[in-house]
Amino acid sequence: EKGGYDYFMLKEIAEQPKAVADTLLGRIDPSGSLTLDEVRISPSELREIEKVVIVACGTAFHAGLIAKYAIEHWTRIPCEVELASEFRYRDPILDGRSLVIAISQSGETMDTLMALRHAREQGSKVLAICNTNGSTIPRESDAVLYTHAGPEVAVASTKAFLTQLVACYLVALYLGQVRGTKWGDEIQAVIKDLSRISEEVERVLETMEPVRALARTLATKNTVLFLGRHVGYPVALEGALKLKELAYMHAEGFAAGELKHGPIALIEEDLPVVVVVPSPRGRSVLHDKIVSNIQEIRARGARTIVIAEEGDEAVVPYADHLIRIPATPTLLQPLVATVPLQVFACELATARGNEVDQPRNLAKSVTVE
Ligand code: F6R
Repeated sequence: EKGGYDYFMLKEIAEQPKAVADTLLGRIDPSGSLTLDEVRISPSELREIEKVVIVACGTAFHAGLIAKYAIEHWTRIPCEVELASEFRYRDPILDGRSLVIAISQSGETMDTLMALRHAREQGSKVLAICNTNGSTIPRESDAVLYTHAGPEVAVASTKAFLTQLVACYLVALYLGQVRGTKWGDEIQAVIKDLSRISEEVERVLETMEPVRALARTLATKNTVLFLGRHVGYPVALEGALKLKELAYMHAEGFAAGELKHGPIALIEEDLPVVVVVPSPRGRSVLHDKIVSNIQEIRARGARTIVIAEEGDEAVVPYADHLIRIPATPTLLQPLVATVPLQVFACELATARGNEVDQPRNLAKSVTVE
């Protein structure tokens, strides 16, 4: 049942191109516009939305953080993202003009369920993004957009995460389309890029051998840091989470701009630091800033592991290890940038003799608050 792989996690990492393609299937029509018939919230209701609030836990929360960039950029609707476990306890401001999006692979996460119940009590509409047909979270929501990752068995979420991202992009683009923003042309272009993105994920998977080899050399380290900016920041958080739960190593993700406000004090000789570099096209200011961050940490002895777009030559002099990813539009980069981090964590866990599919103390679906 593991299809020739040693672990479900490896199988599920390999299934990502298909999971991504399946989640897009039938949702982009030949004219390039989006059809989301499972979203049972009418276009007129969607035009009235004044605020989007995303609630989720763990990896799904990281998908939500990335969704915020996409939603605010393409729709200009303010978007908040909150850990589901914190949400209802702070008396959040919600009403009938708030759209709450609950993201959950299992559809059974109690924290997320309680958050969405609270939102509905306040009169908000709830849209579930979920991978499990007929599970509790979609059943209790006003509408659902299913991710088509197929069953995810490994405790650590991989293919579900990528499909959650796809679903979030679809919602953002759809909201943009329904409400008609000034980004119309960009939305059309991104829909095209999205429909080709599974091939890019496939290409990343074909180049993962050096990442595995690198991971094995780090098996005796105690700490790994992850840096990113813009949508690369949640990717850094996700890379750190994967490493904690699988390799039982101390790992932290930071927004690279925060380095100088504290975390740079952690940098010491030979400390592995993974840096997710934004595209040099698009938001090139951010690219240049992160290149200086890489220079700064390397000057202080860090071992820099740089994830950068093909053709980005500016990073080459400062990368002790360079992991290439295909060029994508800025907002879509997490779909390709996360994959090496999954492979990295899986290989490190194996090298440390850990049980990859069943990390200690964790359960696949957390049905207690
Ligand atoms: C991390 C992981 C967890 C889940 C979280 C939410 O790899 O799997 O952080 O993402 O427990 O689970 P769902 O998506 O089922 O609500």
